[in-house]
Amino acid sequence: MVYSANTTVWITGASSGIGAALAEHYARLGASVILSSRNESQLQAVALRCAKISAPSDGKKRKSPDFFVVPVDMASTESIAQAWAEVGKLNRPINVLINNAGISQRSLTRDTGTEIDRKVMELNFFGTVTLTKMVLPHMLTHGGGHIAAISSIVGKFGFPLRSAYSASKHALKGFFESLDAEERKHRIFVTLVYPGFITTKISVNALTADGTAHGAMDNNQKQGMAPEICARKIERAIRRRKHEVLVGRKELLLVHIRRFLPALYYTMARRVNPT
Ligand SMILES: NC(=O)c1ccc[n+]([C@@H]2O[C@H](COP(=O)([O-])OP(=O)(O)OC[C@H]3O[C@@H](n4cnc5c(N)ncnc54)[C@H](OP(=O)(O)O)[C@@H]3O)[C@@H](O)[C@H]2O)c1
Repeated sequence: MVYSANTTVWITGASSGIGAALAEHYARLGASVILSSRNESQLQAVALRCAKISAPSDGKKRKSPDFFVVPVDMASTESIAQAWAEVGKLNRPINVLINNAGISQRSLTRDTGTEIDRKVMELNFFGTVTLTKMVLPHMLTHGGGHIAAISSIVGKFGFPLRSAYSASKHALKGFFESLDAEERKHRIFVTLVYPGFITTKISVNALTADGTAHGAMDNNQKQGMAPEICARKIERAIRRRKHEVLVGRKELLLVHIRRFLPALYYTMARRVNPT
């Protein structure tokens, strides 16, 4: 895929972390970006950075990409419908949708009420599915498009303190692999992204058993991959129309251990430091 100002990439969760890094990376490549999440002022700040990055440095005159801020609460169907109506007013085909908004969890299953399970599922799974189902017919009408979903390595196996989060990311796998099987022949390409540990605020914002934020940057995230590198790898996988991509460092080994040496995975999962 060659990017131009006419290429439109819609990124949810674009106000921070991986989503913000993705917006900036697509800006650098010359694409137009729609940035969505709840925090409008943070989205505006990212959009401003995108506009600066995308300014051509070679002095050549060409159409500049656009950066639109469309706030959305991905845990609310009504808010998603409103955002989709706003995007409709832009009157431009969406070429790439990146379902990135999400929240994690840091709590034992036995302490966690089902209201937290539902909260995590509502955002990570149902919000993603709702938006995807709104955008899909539009993409089909425009001859195709690309839909990515940001899962997690814990969308490949279970992990302590992540029962709801891991379940929500496993659910994305089932949904998006099925969608891919149905629609690739209609030029709807689907990429499932499985990040390992990326240095973002995901653990700070993660829900604890009482619904408050964990509030701390876990060691795993502190020592993780930079979101900018993660964004480059995600963009490349989407451009190459990969069905799935693992993004991270040595923690990715666990995915292969779970698959090929399950007994070792069960032992490691019991003993691993989950923060
Ligand atoms: N960092 C990692 O180690 C890691 C590993 C595996 C997978 N992931 C996945 O990567 C994705 C991005 O997370 P991140 O690491 O970049 O963490 P992050 O910095 O906490 O970013 C999360 C993003 O989701 C948005 N968001 C949260 N609740 C929302 C809601 N109700 N409606 C709309 N947007 C909402 C946030 O924006 P607002 O607050 O402005 O709404 C923010 O932009 C998530 O799906 C996460 O599960 C991350």
